[in-house]
Amino acid sequence: MNVAVIGANGQLGTDVVYAFREQGDVVTSLTHADIELSSLESVSACLGKQKLDAVVNTAAMHHVEKCEQEPAAAYAINALGTRNLAIATRDLGAMLVHVSTDYVFDGEKGEPYVEDDAPLPLNVYGNSKLAGEHFARTLNPEHFVLRTSALYGKHPCRAKGGLNFVDLMLKLARERGKVRVVDSEFVTPTSTSQLAKQIVVLSRCDAYGLYHATAERKCSWYEFAKEIFQLTDTDIRLEVAIPGEFPAKVPRPSYSVLENRELKIRGLNVFSSWQEGLCDYLGVREPSNSQV
Ligand SMILES: NC(=O)c1ccc[n+]([C@@H]2O[C@H](COP(=O)([O-])OP(=O)(O)OC[C@H]3O[C@@H](n4cnc5c(N)ncnc54)[C@H](OP(=O)(O)O)[C@@H]3O)[C@@H](O)[C@H]2O)c1
Repeated sequence: MNVAVIGANGQLGTDVVYAFREQGDVVTSLTHADIELSSLESVSACLGKQKLDAVVNTAAMHHVEKCEQEPAAAYAINALGTRNLAIATRDLGAMLVHVSTDYVFDGEKGEPYVEDDAPLPLNVYGNSKLAGEHFARTLNPEHFVLRTSALYGKHPCRAKGGLNFVDLMLKLARERGKVRVVDSEFVTPTSTSQLAKQIVVLSRCDAYGLYHATAERKCSWYEFAKEIFQLTDTDIRLEVAIPGEFPAKVPRPSYSVLENRELKIRGLNVFSSWQEGLCDYLGVREPSNSQV
C-alpha cells in the first residue's frame, strides 16, 4: 500500500509509520512542518502530490487545558482539520484512518462504552474531536474512526511534552520516597505499538466505520501505577491521593473505559490486556495473577 501518516513524529505517529513499513508498505511521513491540517489548501497540496491508498491522521491539538483556552484553534485543527482531510482523501479516492478519543463521553455510564452510546463531551477538546469524527464519517465513506484512551509509547507525546505516565512514575520513584496517585479516574492504558498494529489490520479491509480501539480491561491511575511498580520491582510508597488533591482545571470524564465491541464482532480486534501491553513496553514478563 501507499500510505501517508500525518503527525509522523508524534507518540502514536512514529509507531504507525514503523508498523506499516514493517509490512513492506510505502510510507510518506508527514510532520507539522509538511502539512497544516487547519488549511484545506495545505492539506490538498500536500496529499495531492502522490498516489495514496490510505491516509492515517494521528495529528491533533490534544492538550486539554490548551484546547479550553484556545477553542478556536482546537476546532480549526480537530474539527475543520479533519473536515479538510476527509474532503481531500475522498477526492483522491483514498481511505481515511482518523484517531479520536475516549473524551467524547461524559463518564456517567459507569461501565464500558460501546460505539453506539451517545457521546456527551465535557470539554472543548472532546467537543472538537467529536465534531472531527462527524466530518470524517459524513464526508469520506471510506473512513475508519478509532477512539482510543490513555496512550503511552516509546516516543514522547509532543502535545504534553516530557514523559508518559509510565516513565513519569518511574522517574518520581527514583527521585522521591513516595508517590500519590488518584484512584477515582478509570481508563484503559493503551500502548501506541498495539494501536499502530490495529490500524494496519483495519487498513487491509473495507469494514469502514467507527471503532473503539483500546487495550482490554480497565484500571484507575492508581492501579496503573501499582502495576508499573510491581512489574519493575520498584521500592516506593504508593498512596491514594485524597479527592481534590490534584484539582483538574478542566472537567474530564472520571470513567472513560471503552469496549472494542465492533472490532470483536468483525474478528478484527488485536488488543491484549493493558497489563500485557505494559509488560511489552517495560520488556518484562506478565505475572500470572494479573487480573485488574
Ligand atoms: N495521548 C493520549 O493519551 C491520547 C488519548 C486518546 C486519544 N489521543 C489521540 O491520539 C492521537 C495521537 O496522539 P499522540 O499522543 O501521538 O500526540 P502527539 O505526540 O502530540 O502528536 C501529535 C502530532 O500532531 C502534529 N500536529 C499538531 N497540530 C497540527 C496541525 N495543525 N497540523 C498538522 N500536524 C499537527 C504535532 O506536530 P507538532 O508537535 O510539531 O505541532 C505532532 O506531530 C491524537 O489524535 C489524540 O487526540 C491521544
